[in-house]
Amino acid sequence: MEGRSEALTLVEIIDARDNQGAAMAARDWGYAQWGAGNLARTEHAAWFQQTFLKSPMLEAAVPVCLVALVEGAPAATACLVGDDGLGPPYDPIAGATPWIASVYTAPAFRRRGLAAHLVRACLDRLAAVSVDQVYLYTPDQQRLYANLGFEAVALARTRQGEEVTVMWRRVSP
Ligand SMILES: CC(C)(COP(=O)(O)OP(=O)(O)OC[C@H]1O[C@@H](n2cnc3c(N)ncnc32)[C@H](O)[C@@H]1OP(=O)(O)O)[C@@H](O)C(=O)NCCC(=O)NCCS
Repeated sequence: MEGRSEALTLVEIIDARDNQGAAMAARDWGYAQWGAGNLARTEHAAWFQQTFLKSPMLEAAVPVCLVALVEGAPAATACLVGDDGLGPPYDPIAGATPWIASVYTAPAFRRRGLAAHLVRACLDRLAAVSVDQVYLYTPDQQRLYANLGFEAVALARTRQGEEVTVMWRRVSP
């Protein structure tokens, strides 16, 4: 049986607005993982800046890009957005909002619970402002999210044609 990795210590979760290095790491991981091939790096950078770094609503839970620092260095990220781009019927107008998006852990830090920790931090942020439901979609990480209380609600396709599972949970257990 595969042994468990050591849990990480000295993990701090911050808002990307509070640390330039963390913001740039989250932006660049997002581009490498999901943006490249779909849009130019400069377009992605402008979107990231506008969405997560320039939001005037500093007290709002959404949008936000959270970054996990391990011993002070960026190691993983997860974001909350109003609309994660699936289109109807999953746009905010149909009530499917907010979304956990861009969950990413740097390869050296995987399988230590960082993604789970960040997803829980997103839920805490939503609970603090009394948002009672949250969505996400994934092509292949259904088990990770099911273990965090998400239920599959539908199959869908992204605008790039990738088949994904839409998942949902109540914010409060
Ligand atoms: C998917 C991804 C975000 C997971 O990040 P992670 O930080 O490794 O996630 P976690 O450590 O919380 O959980 C991953 C697995 O490790 C297990 N795990 C958690 N802590 C562990 C430990 N100390 N020892 C061993 N395994 C552990 C979890 O149970 C989970 O198991 P599962 O795959 O059977 O569900 C990461 O692999 C990644 O960035 N992939 C590329 C981008 C991507 O696919 N993002 C998701 C888009 S929906």
